[in-house]
Amino acid sequence: MTLFELVKLAIDELYETAIPTYGGQKALDAEIRRELKSLSRAYGQLTQGAGTAISFEQPATRIAYVYSYVAAHADYIYSALRDLSDEIDCGRVFTTGRPRVCCIGSGPGTDLLGIRKYLLRHAVEDVTTLTAYLLDQEAANWAEPRTALAQALTDSGLTTPRPKTKSRLFVADETRPWQGRKKPAAADLFTLSYFVSQASAADPEAVADSLREMFRRAKRGALILYVDNNSTSLTNYFDNIWDDMGLELLLDFSGDRNMHYSEEMSALDPYPDKFKRHPKLHSNICVRGLRKPT
Ligand SMILES: C[S@@+](CC[C@H](N)C(=O)[O-])C[C@H]1O[C@@H](n2cnc3c(N)ncnc32)[C@H](O)[C@@H]1O
Repeated sequence: MTLFELVKLAIDELYETAIPTYGGQKALDAEIRRELKSLSRAYGQLTQGAGTAISFEQPATRIAYVYSYVAAHADYIYSALRDLSDEIDCGRVFTTGRPRVCCIGSGPGTDLLGIRKYLLRHAVEDVTTLTAYLLDQEAANWAEPRTALAQALTDSGLTTPRPKTKSRLFVADETRPWQGRKKPAAADLFTLSYFVSQASAADPEAVADSLREMFRRAKRGALILYVDNNSTSLTNYFDNIWDDMGLELLLDFSGDRNMHYSEEMSALDPYPDKFKRHPKLHSNICVRGLRKPT
């Protein structure tokens, strides 16, 4: 099952649940169309270095996000993991059968979908149990889409390896966000997918401090995967944070990325017609694959 097919199943459920809140399909479609425009504008402003507050409190905003961004972002995580494995001596991202991953600013669990695509295509026999810590400042708002995507995975029969998912409220720019978070901090892999652009727009200093603290606490050999907009100022911001932390740069990519050939947007029908906008299919991204030396 492709990422678009999973997203379609999740949207079917989120959409049905949201209809009564908006008083009917037409009103819901109109609101989702508005939210798609609004998210696109807000993310465009982030790319240009301008901060803007984005809230996922409303069901229509969450549906718009899942429809537009989840498949593409999960696919970028998948390709980045595949590329990262080529840079690791043993050719594998996970060297244990029971890895822990920590997805920071995980939203509806996008990063985990990308990790699972990687496992299913490249490493399924090596990994028996995957524990995923999903950290986000809007953990509660994301519960419904996260559950819908998890249910879509179950319905599709993609239950191996079955992830143990632990969703936690985590506010990167509050004082000492890593305090009392021993288990997520001990992850084998950290993912930062389009988290740094959004979080740093609000409080760049505090988010930088939080990332430095994460790098300090990470165990030896831990991998850190960063995927975000390919904007010079954002990339410089991120590079300056890890540069003097003694991390190894394993993967370094900047440029256009299209979704994997297996992904067909038509799987989302009838939503592209209803929402009058295509989901994200390609982006200009920056990828960093880092490792804490052993
Ligand atoms: C653009 S979304 C990315 C979601 C997902 N990783 C993806 O790639 O689709 C950014 C996420 O970061 C979260 N976020 C933004 N600022 C944050 C902060 N200071 N602390 C924790 N989470 C934050 C938002 O709630 C949102 O879920």
